[in-house]
Amino acid sequence: MNNFIFENATKTYFGKGCVREYLDCLVKRNHTVMLAYGGGSIKRTGIYDEVMGILTAAGKDVVEFPGIMPNPTYKKVKEGAMLAKEKGVDFILGIGGGSVIDCCKAISMAVVYPGDLWEDFWARPGVVDFTPLPLGAIVTVVGTGSEMNGGAVITHEEKKIKTGRDYPACNPRFALLDPTYTMSVPRRQMVSGGVDILSHIMETYFSVPNEENVSDDLSEALMRGVIRDLRAAVEDPQDYTARSNLMWESTMAENRIIKLGKACDFQCHQMEHQLGAYTNCNHGEGLAVLHPAYYRHIYEAGLPKFVRFATRVWGISQDGKTDKELARAGVEALADFIQELGMPTTLRELGLTDDSILEEIAESCNLAPGSYQKMTHEDILRIFQACF
Ligand code: NZQ
Ligand code: ZN
Repeated sequence: MNNFIFENATKTYFGKGCVREYLDCLVKRNHTVMLAYGGGSIKRTGIYDEVMGILTAAGKDVVEFPGIMPNPTYKKVKEGAMLAKEKGVDFILGIGGGSVIDCCKAISMAVVYPGDLWEDFWARPGVVDFTPLPLGAIVTVVGTGSEMNGGAVITHEEKKIKTGRDYPACNPRFALLDPTYTMSVPRRQMVSGGVDILSHIMETYFSVPNEENVSDDLSEALMRGVIRDLRAAVEDPQDYTARSNLMWESTMAENRIIKLGKACDFQCHQMEHQLGAYTNCNHGEGLAVLHPAYYRHIYEAGLPKFVRFATRVWGISQDGKTDKELARAGVEALADFIQELGMPTTLRELGLTDDSILEEIAESCNLAPGSYQKMTHEDILRIFQACF
């Protein structure tokens, strides 16, 4: 194992009924709570009524901030911060998935930071030497794991940049994870979130060190779990075991535990983020298109780990195959699984109709230093072209 320091400031409450049981106690020292949410699913599912009931019974002033869109924009962050300042909000409660929670994290900084948040903290990494407004998260859709980390992915529409930063000061104070809240997530979003979980684990696993280590062992168990639980939840969307496992697998993939001692790659995420900046595509669907092509491009540079992936995650036996054939079989098993889930497999299906833009998108992507293969913008363009 490599050296590491570990801390995670988010207190996590998991299980059926946890919002009802703990929320009022968790906000007892706050007066004015900003209730931030997305396009309205929480009103259709009854989650809004449940949370509002708890907050009003506890005598809180509630300031609503609805309409946080998938792939939240910097404009929305500024709007939320202005509202929070105007109303004297002292606590932000985000209800939703990665988009809502990420937007809330950026708002929690923007409320107290006097300068240009984008320029100083998203265009480039900054030092958070102030305390953001406290934030709590109630998860209604799984995938990003945003509830138990400091990461926030924000899109600057005019600049056509979608980028993520991870500031531990932005970790939510608490995360409430009730798997029954996710039962209403439609199949398309559920499988997209599932592939995002798998992607977070793979982006961590496919990086040095290659020797046996606890982080990779945990990753293998998590990947097998995600594959099993996604299949079960597709078969029966009301399967509590599957939905609750997926919820915790999602958090585990991004709460920094499996990253301990790992270099981490996240090149595929860098590529997806820029595809998102240009097309506003769904995050998990963008990853589903890119991952098989990216791994076909780099697997020879990380052969021992790709062999392990084929055998330990997909259960493929060597049976006279060379290591290269075995590793490639693992990548193809991943591609087959993505197809089995009925996800898009081409950039055209994500809404890109003209391949002349691919070069510009490829040029705009960050190059991840942790990749098994030293990537160039030309490599990224070739991967995009292979996916078109
Ligand atoms: O907006 P509403 O009406 O609530 O509908 C949402 C939204 O359309 C719907 N939904 C949520 N809960 C539901 C539900 N529908 C029915 N029943 C429910 N219980 O789901 C849709 C997608 O929500 P969104 O929050 O956009 O999805 P996700 O959690 O996948 O978040 C995606 C965003 O997170 C970023 C992505 O790039 C993207 O911007 N990421 C954040 C990360 C982080 N902070 O650590 C890491 C990730 O890699 C990712 O980049
Ligand atoms: Zn992701």
